[in-house]
Amino acid sequence: MAKKKNVSEVKRIKALREEIEAHNHHYYVLDAPVVPDSVFDKLLQDLQALEEERPDLITEDSPTQRVGGAPLDRFETVVHQVPMLSLQNAFSDDELFDFDRRCREGAGRTSMTYMAEPKIDGLAISLRYENGQLTRAATRGDGRNGEDVTLNARTISSIPLRLVGKNPPRALEVRGEVFMPVAGFNRLNDQQRINGEKLYANPRNAAAGSLRQLDPKVCANRPLSFFCYALGALNGVSQPDNQNDLLDFFKNIGLPVNSISREVQGVDQCLAYYKEILEARSTLDYEIDGVVYKVSSFKDQERIGFVSRAPRWAMAHKFPAQEETTQVKVIEIQVGRSGALTPVARLEPVFVGGVTVSNATLHNAAEIDRLDVREGDTVVIRRAGDVIPEVVSVIKDRRKKNAKRYRFPEHCPVCGSEAPVDAGGIIRRCSAGLSCSAQVKESIKHFVSRKALDVEGMGSKLIEQLVDNGRIRSAADLFTLTQSELAKLDRMGEKSAANLISALEKSRATTLPRFLYSLGIPQVGETTSETLASSFGSLETLMKSSIDALEAVSDVGPVVAGGIRRFFDQNHNVLIINSLIKHGIFWDTTPTQFNPTGVFKDKTVVITGTLPSMSRDQARQWLIEQGAKVSAGVSKRTDYLVAGADPGSKLEKALALGVEVLDEEQLKALVRSELA
Ligand code: IVH
Repeated sequence: MAKKKNVSEVKRIKALREEIEAHNHHYYVLDAPVVPDSVFDKLLQDLQALEEERPDLITEDSPTQRVGGAPLDRFETVVHQVPMLSLQNAFSDDELFDFDRRCREGAGRTSMTYMAEPKIDGLAISLRYENGQLTRAATRGDGRNGEDVTLNARTISSIPLRLVGKNPPRALEVRGEVFMPVAGFNRLNDQQRINGEKLYANPRNAAAGSLRQLDPKVCANRPLSFFCYALGALNGVSQPDNQNDLLDFFKNIGLPVNSISREVQGVDQCLAYYKEILEARSTLDYEIDGVVYKVSSFKDQERIGFVSRAPRWAMAHKFPAQEETTQVKVIEIQVGRSGALTPVARLEPVFVGGVTVSNATLHNAAEIDRLDVREGDTVVIRRAGDVIPEVVSVIKDRRKKNAKRYRFPEHCPVCGSEAPVDAGGIIRRCSAGLSCSAQVKESIKHFVSRKALDVEGMGSKLIEQLVDNGRIRSAADLFTLTQSELAKLDRMGEKSAANLISALEKSRATTLPRFLYSLGIPQVGETTSETLASSFGSLETLMKSSIDALEAVSDVGPVVAGGIRRFFDQNHNVLIINSLIKHGIFWDTTPTQFNPTGVFKDKTVVITGTLPSMSRDQARQWLIEQGAKVSAGVSKRTDYLVAGADPGSKLEKALALGVEVLDEEQLKALVRSELA
């Protein structure tokens, strides 16, 4: 009897491992997960539980063995039998033309086929598989001698512990890049900040710092990933003929390769690829610092050969750097719409991330303290994607002797009122509210912005001018402006004054969610404005609602509810709202028909991303008509997530929680099927 149980445990463990490996393969290699993360986690837990009962059945390559073993004293040195090479760099198109000419001449061809790949910004690693088992992982080091980081590499989920397929190569050495995805990097730094530990300057440093941890358990908790792109050695199976087939071969045996690599013909297609990837750069969830072109045919590669430590047949075409050094001229304080004092470093202009940058945010006083940045300092600044440029570190060696530590002001630099630290304990806020002209300016800028009342042509400079000369004191005053007075202002003519008046006219017709958003109530963004509008139906009801009623709205917690109540309790806000309505701002007040017997009765739905044929607002109205409760954030209680293009983190969260995800078509089909 006992024996039978053993046999079934052995089988069950084997089956679970195979299932987990198959899911890993779908997730990391095929880029097409078939189950939500929660299902995957459950399988892993089941396997762990079984292995706890039967420790004798634990094998090195079991998926449970990625949690990291005992810490090391130091890393052993590994000698790379086949050296790990570096790449020649090109920063201009001309250098690329030269490279192409050299390759064609070397191979004796008139036109050349290249494999074009993104250049992942991480660190190179070499993995050794013997009979399909991962036996060693080593860093590049100086190309000849690296460090043995096997225990750490084993904790990286996208590195298979075992290759797939019945006949794995006898020996395989594969090279690739270990990197940290941007989302994971941000989460790691948030955590480091909370723990009072050092922050990593960028994802590459974080990846390198993580892979070089002596304690594999630390590395296991770092969100590292891996793509492979080159062969070190291969025995026991025949070698592919070209880079394209090599990448397919990797993929077939279960090794993750980057999906945006592509074969291209000649230098024109290389350039087209470069432009395409440069544009896509900020949408990728990992950092790249250029693209790599490789002569695809291995025979051609042999003919072309090497220059010192780099192949002559490959070239990295670099993107504009995302980090540069420059000097801080002064540190200034900006006062935001809610009075927050934000320090900004005014910089010697520098070209970084493809644009010239002359300001970088320093976030808050704590961040200035952490960096110890001083006026006159030489700093590293970073602009990644569309993110606001920030100072990442100070080059202390270049600090001038007399540089003084920065003292954060305790008063508003614009109106002189006290600026105490707020309840969160980090941000100082000017206490003067709308008596402070900076706050007035910022609140009017917000009021006219695209997602608010969208007054086209009403720029920042114009608003500043009108507030400075005392002509306007609030958003409501905008509607008292006349064409003739606007035409007399700096940089204005009759035509732009007329356009502005008609833009103001047009902005009067709005929607309740937009109007609420435009008021700039603390912490009330677009989505919360929509939720408030649909929950309370009218502005009057919302303005009169109690804290309890506000908190009853999904996604509105005590802090937001308190902020909303305080906003409507302040007389000057009520005066501005009344004045705006007196000046003719209006919206459709027909209440959305709530259908208590609709298909979505009692269902909580979240909408994310851009839907193909309706706006989120329309989708929300429509869902409410079907009886749904539309909420802003995904939680365990969410029944459906309706996802359009660029769904962001809500989709990830929904998948992780096992929430059903619908696209617009599926949503409509569901309603149709229920109605039929
Ligand atoms: S090929 C024989 N391909 O860039 C060629 N390298 O600057 C060896 N890298 O050390 C490298 N993405 O760490 C290659 N698609 C890619 C790459 C890539 C990133 C890194 C790698 C290498 C460095 C050279």
